[in-house]
Amino acid sequence: MKTQVAIVGGGPSGLLLAQLLHTRGIESVVLERKTKDYVLGRIRAGVLERGLVALLEEAGCADRLHAEGIVHDGTLMSYGDEMFRIDFTEHTGTPVVVYGQTEVTRDLYEAREAAGAQTLFNVEDVVIHGADTDAPHVTFAIDGETHRIDCDFVAGCDGFHGVSRQTIPLEVRREYEKVYPFGWLGILSRTPPVNHELIYANSPRGFALCSMRNENLSRYYIQCSLSDKPEDWTDDAFWQELKRRIPADQANALVTGPSIEKSIAPLRSFVTEPMRWGRLFLCGDAAHIVPPTGAKGLNTAASDVHYLYNGLRDWYENGSAEGVDLYSELALARVWKAERFSWWFSSLMHRYPDQSEFDLKMQVAEIEFLRTNAAAQKAMAENYVGLPY
Ligand code: FAD
Ligand code: PHB
Repeated sequence: MKTQVAIVGGGPSGLLLAQLLHTRGIESVVLERKTKDYVLGRIRAGVLERGLVALLEEAGCADRLHAEGIVHDGTLMSYGDEMFRIDFTEHTGTPVVVYGQTEVTRDLYEAREAAGAQTLFNVEDVVIHGADTDAPHVTFAIDGETHRIDCDFVAGCDGFHGVSRQTIPLEVRREYEKVYPFGWLGILSRTPPVNHELIYANSPRGFALCSMRNENLSRYYIQCSLSDKPEDWTDDAFWQELKRRIPADQANALVTGPSIEKSIAPLRSFVTEPMRWGRLFLCGDAAHIVPPTGAKGLNTAASDVHYLYNGLRDWYENGSAEGVDLYSELALARVWKAERFSWWFSSLMHRYPDQSEFDLKMQVAEIEFLRTNAAAQKAMAENYVGLPY
């Protein structure tokens, strides 16, 4: 097989890049380790920045997003029974859109199928060869049979556990990591959201988040111990704990019901540098991870796609290497700002096992400052709706 861009990973990064390239007549093949149903079964991000919405529009995949996505002009934050609101539209002129990653991925797969573009599922043993040469190729197996794709470039969109990052030699790669001493236990339930906006809650019992997918599908999270297992938590225990962590009036209004998904995600900040090695480009979770506080994971993957797409367009349409040469630098400059915001917001909202009385006072003072200071709210809002590309 031969293509222009071989894309390893059929998650949101890989699919969005493939669809954008397709609109410019640039050919790609997407290699996905799992089945389509498996990819669509993963419940992940729910809040889209304006930049990702614009990319989906450019890819011709935003019709359902515009019809079904819920525009949020602000968010609620609470500590104990105190609750206040940060108005994104007032501070930045821009809202965010609540629309699940699962739906984004579904729309991209559908567009790909409609365009007759190639996605190979159940691929195993992906190996990237010659990334530091002008003629890279990728080998992989399907049903035990080995295949080879020759290409101009390889996009490593295969998430945190993929092979692309590992392809970059250790002497070139530099990794930065912070692991948090807690996780998030999340559930999805067919119940109306407790509030029409998200609630980020800091409580003495730990963090909680009330989110949603649509008017009858709610997503709730509570900070949990790293040793907890989803099966340790009955639905009833989850709802009781959530109610203790949000303001009383919200707890009283909460409609509970059976969970249809329950999982635990560890929290991690991670960045690898550089994001390019020769003709291999890392995109999204393959290069960086953020804790989910602030919903930057998927959105930061999208900004990588933006820089890579424009770099590849520069190459194929203008014969210029400038965009691909600048990719790592441009992508990382924005990645580190998203890392900073996610780390700051996580530090502000969670209870840490080793937190001293002084640390707690600092947390409360910082939340109070945010509650009462317009400049602090503007800075928070600018980061939440997404810094410019
Ligand atoms: P992925 O979505 O990980 O996609 C990578 C794809 O590559 C996968 O489909 C995988 O099967 C495939 N792959 C892996 N290895 C190979 C291989 N060797 N060969 C071929 N294919 C391969 N972000 C938020 O903003 N909010 C959230 O609430 C949130 N919750 C999350 C919960 C969990 C459990 C996780 C893991 C992430 C969460 N995130 C969240 C982060 C967000 O979902 C990711 O940032 C986003 O999925 C990144 O997209 P991606 O395409 O770069 O990577
Ligand atoms: C979600 O709806 O899954 C979600 C929303 C906001 C976050 C994290 C997760 O900060």
